[in-house]
Amino acid sequence: MVKYALQLNNISKMYHDGEDENTVLDNVSLKVRPGEFVAIVGPSGSGKSTMLSIAGALLSSTKGEVIVGETPLDSNKKNWNLVRREKIGFIFQSHQLIPYLNVGDQLNLIGRISKKKDREESKKYADELLADLGLADSKTKYPNKLSGGEKQRVAIARAFMNKPDVILADEPTASLDAPRGRQVVEMIRKVVKKQNRAAIMVTHDERILDLVDVIYRIENGKLYVNVM
Ligand SMILES: Nc1ncnc2c1ncn2[C@@H]1O[C@H](COP(=O)(O)OP(=O)(O)OP(=O)(O)O)[C@@H](O)[C@H]1O
Ligand SMILES: [Mg+2]
Repeated sequence: MVKYALQLNNISKMYHDGEDENTVLDNVSLKVRPGEFVAIVGPSGSGKSTMLSIAGALLSSTKGEVIVGETPLDSNKKNWNLVRREKIGFIFQSHQLIPYLNVGDQLNLIGRISKKKDREESKKYADELLADLGLADSKTKYPNKLSGGEKQRVAIARAFMNKPDVILADEPTASLDAPRGRQVVEMIRKVVKKQNRAAIMVTHDERILDLVDVIYRIENGKLYVNVM
């Protein structure tokens, strides 16, 4: 097993706005082990989503290196699609489910896109995930028949479908009330621990931070281990 599921090494990100240069991330490093659940907090505009996008091969950094498992992301983006598809699962602030697919098919679609495994095995895995996330009875339901918390749990199941080594979640509880938000994060934790995946969650919600292993804070472009 690899020592780190994800490494950000000396990442900087600058945006140019005419004459001005805005340094959003200033030489940030982060390593996350398999089975580790990490939270990132910080003020609005501090670069949390930017950092997550760089970690997930959605955005290039200005400087530094991203290594997913043992695979460094090419600076020319050659392996980005492959890494995203095979190694990374995303959970966004709003669930982004496909309205015309039922819960089971939301997951099976990912099973089909990822070319790792055969269809029967993939369907079995979808059932297992849905059971783990308390959604066994919702398999044939469409998104408009689900509560906000249920939709977000489907989004989690979907993010785990390709058995990603790294889960990236950007404010996954933002659209939920406190109890449902907590439940959703408990579910992420459960799958991270059970399957030894790594997860990074950006959040504003202090009440769920007891569920993660390490808390980092971004401020003025720097990343600090948060001492609560
Ligand atoms: N495409 C872009 N061009 C220029 N500046 C950008 C771009 N995307 C983001 N920024 C700037 O980068 C900074 C960090 O943005 P980011 O979205 O990462 O913050 P955040 O910590 O996720 O904030 P929030 O908590 O509000 O989601 C902000 O100042 C933002 O204006
Ligand atoms: Mg953000």
